[in-house]
Amino acid sequence: MFLSRSLHKPFSATASSSSSSVSSMASHHLHHQNGDSTITTTHSPPSKKLKATPITPSELLAEFSHHHPSTARINNGSFGSCPASIIAAQRKYQLQYLQQPDDFYFNRLKPYILKTRSIIKDLINADHVDEISVVDNATTAAAIVLQHITWSFFESKFNKGDTAVMLHYAYGAVKKSVQAYVTRAGGEVIEVKLPFPLKSNDEIITEFKKALEKGKSNGRKIRLAVIDHVTSMPCVVIPVKELVKICRDEGVDRIFVDAAHAIGCAEVDMQDIGADFYTSNLHKWFFCPPSVAFLYSRKTDKIADLHHPVVSHEYGNGLAVESAWIGTRDYSAQLVLPEVMDFLSRFEGGIDGIRKRNHERVVEMGEMLAAVWGTHLGSPPKMCASLAMVGMPACLGISSDSDALKLRTHLRDCFGIEVPIYYRAPNDGEFNPITGYARISHQVYNTTEDYYKFRDAVNKLVNDAFTCALLSD
Ligand SMILES: Cc1ncc(COP(=O)(O)O)c(C=O)c1O
Repeated sequence: MFLSRSLHKPFSATASSSSSSVSSMASHHLHHQNGDSTITTTHSPPSKKLKATPITPSELLAEFSHHHPSTARINNGSFGSCPASIIAAQRKYQLQYLQQPDDFYFNRLKPYILKTRSIIKDLINADHVDEISVVDNATTAAAIVLQHITWSFFESKFNKGDTAVMLHYAYGAVKKSVQAYVTRAGGEVIEVKLPFPLKSNDEIITEFKKALEKGKSNGRKIRLAVIDHVTSMPCVVIPVKELVKICRDEGVDRIFVDAAHAIGCAEVDMQDIGADFYTSNLHKWFFCPPSVAFLYSRKTDKIADLHHPVVSHEYGNGLAVESAWIGTRDYSAQLVLPEVMDFLSRFEGGIDGIRKRNHERVVEMGEMLAAVWGTHLGSPPKMCASLAMVGMPACLGISSDSDALKLRTHLRDCFGIEVPIYYRAPNDGEFNPITGYARISHQVYNTTEDYYKFRDAVNKLVNDAFTCALLSD
């Protein structure tokens, strides 16, 4: 049963304490009666602290009432979303600073950031809080890691021609960073070509192994592997743990996981994944305001010389401390994590519950759209996180990246729908190929109507014999 402008199973009883971490939300399986369905969920053990009040449908609507009312936002993936209560918390920190900047700087900022780091440490099952640095975004985290690689070339720890391996699907900005820091320093970059649509993890693993073989040819060493956890475009969950293990077996020096999307939409456990570096944005799927991310760097002697690219007073005091002061600026987005944990605790199962429901719903909505349009999902459901790639009708004539962008703009301007579109070049000899895939997201504020709106807009375009060729540049 779908409710009009209502939200699908976001809540019901919650049991986690306001300060509990996701990793501690284990153990008791409870059954809740919620509307027309019975849900099995995971809850934290009973806490002496006050239980969080389950969020109600009207409170949930109020939390996102600043969203443009006539836009169906099925693109949480790009910029995330921030509830009103977290925006208010951010404002509180901003005012604290503005009221007495010196007191804020000397007495409060460091403990606040340490608190954020220790929450993240628990969330991602890191060994030590020193392994966690808070930075602006995944782009900054990539610059930190890649600058470290550049210096290793400059200081002759690496040899000219040594290689870096990354996925062909790596995020555009990260690819440019690899070019700027690795290629310029004398390294060679090998891209792992991946097919799309994807049928299984095996396709990824096979291509990855081939790229490592190539990287090691002629006696070269693979100094860096950049592996996405959830790729951006096209969007798939990468078997990151398996790829990290393969890298270890093959003697790859440094392994950096670009997991910009992962926290809040995939399982994130540093012991399990085993990478040297791992970054994730907190402003995408973890309800933080823009912009805040963490960079995990495993404590080993091998990786001692890591620095923030913006050098300030704390240079040389360790990456986490350096990152906590990179000059005068607004640090408030980095401080709201305790309030975000409170927000999450109001949902059944906390962030794990949100993530599981988002996944189920995005797959359900993706399959609904694919069935109506006679297409398919770009990967099996288990390779979707809270995002899914849905094939669009071939008759829309999406025949370039530019067409995909123009269609996205057309859907925004004429139909009030925000959804990224991916162009996939057809293979030779393919009959009536699907060349356009929409990347749909699901977050707690989405409703079934958002996806119906998208379905109906595309159906109208098809019925009107629209093709992308009709859109001007
Ligand atoms: C895989 C991936 N890496 C890096 C980024 C960059 O994130 P940010 O712009 O927050 O630095 C993104 C953004 O969508 C991404 O999807």
